[in-house]
Amino acid sequence: MSIGPENILILTGAGISAESGLGTFREKGGLWERFDPQELATPEAFKRDPDKVLDFYNARRKNLIGATPNPAHRALAELELAWIMAGRGDFLLVTQNIDDLHEQAGSAQLLHMHGELLKTRCQLCGHLFADTEDITPGRPCPGCGKVGGLRPHVVWFGEVPLGLDQIYAALEQVDLFVAVGTSGTVYPAAGFVQEAKAAGAWTIELTLEPGEVSDLFDERIHGPASAVVPDWVRRKLETGS
Ligand code: APR
Repeated sequence: MSIGPENILILTGAGISAESGLGTFREKGGLWERFDPQELATPEAFKRDPDKVLDFYNARRKNLIGATPNPAHRALAELELAWIMAGRGDFLLVTQNIDDLHEQAGSAQLLHMHGELLKTRCQLCGHLFADTEDITPGRPCPGCGKVGGLRPHVVWFGEVPLGLDQIYAALEQVDLFVAVGTSGTVYPAAGFVQEAKAAGAWTIELTLEPGEVSDLFDERIHGPASAVVPDWVRRKLETGS
């Protein structure tokens, strides 16, 4: 039984939302197998062909509307609530996902390091707002009224992920680091396990199959998130281990 506070940091990736019907990126049939990220998910692509990039994200936004959390999202929200209510330590959920399924499940200590598909921002005035509408070049910004400045509030390849200061500060104090449904192929997220180990944390990988940095984890439990994550949360809350 651990004596002092136990600070938890959970990192999630596309795999946690797979059973909610949202696609992953690098698996068979994944998004980056069907579409070229260099053509759709970089600032250069957006400058080169804004309509093509906006159409891609408009389609992904439509696909997200109506998606609901699965037992894995709900189990992480339950763990957060129990951890904070019992004062057992800090809790931070860092997601690489741009969907809103963690919010729908009730997660609050949540940081979207790759942005959010249901938010839009204006490159002309910086206005950031919740948005479920299609983004088109002719749509005026609700902030400044100008057209031509709206883009998805999503971090593209080559752009700096969000919240890194907060994430690295949390990783310095973390006692338990759990990666859920991520392939460990995209940095800086894929390097978080090393930061956690350097801080002396216990590290667990909960994915369908081993990721690229699987060997770095102290513990690996493989299987579908909707089964593996609730089982692990139940074990954590009941036994503390
Ligand atoms: N349950 C648990 N894990 C699953 C499931 C499932 N049902 N289905 C797939 N997985 C796992 C796969 O084994 C894989 O390890 O989810 C992971 C998905 O990996 P990726 O498709 O690479 O997704 P992710 O790791 O989130 O990608 C990171 O890359 O393109 C960028 O910005 C994008 O945030 C994304 C980042």
